[in-house]
Amino acid sequence: MVKVLFVCLGNICRSPTAEGVFRRLVEEQGLDDRIQIDSAGTHAYHVNSPPDHRAQAAALQRGIDMSGLRGRQVDEGDFYMFDYVLAMDKSNEYNLLAISPPDHDATMRLFMEYAESWSDDEVPDPYYGGDAGFERVLDMIEDAAEGLLADIRKHHL
Ligand code: 4NP
Repeated sequence: MVKVLFVCLGNICRSPTAEGVFRRLVEEQGLDDRIQIDSAGTHAYHVNSPPDHRAQAAALQRGIDMSGLRGRQVDEGDFYMFDYVLAMDKSNEYNLLAISPPDHDATMRLFMEYAESWSDDEVPDPYYGGDAGFERVLDMIEDAAEGLLADIRKHHL
């Protein structure tokens, strides 16, 4: 089993969207028995909350139902549990580095490193913006998700 954790700040906008998009891609390719997917936030503001309603609405328009997801905070144990710990932005990555145990084997990267069409390093935080921000987040995540699955196929499957 290859285990992938997506991480953002609140775990209500970007990382649950990445979880939903990547899960659908993995299911479409019949790999759901080989790849396990989760998401978490570096902060605890939205623990046990469902994804932001704007993120849910934007994802649902693309056929992705995120209503069952609930926020949780990332912790040190996640670095031993997961093979990939993927940060949405550099601030998330910095916060992850600060709590990462010295002896973990997880691949810790910015998620956008796997994108092919976008050259951006970060998935921008859509929380304080308008609906267009959520569409952009989905477009970026769909692209990076394809690249991530290609990387997993190459190195693990
Ligand atoms: P996320 O977005 O990190 O993509 O889930 C945010 C969610 C909540 C807040 C900031 C960003 N907040 O400040 O509460």
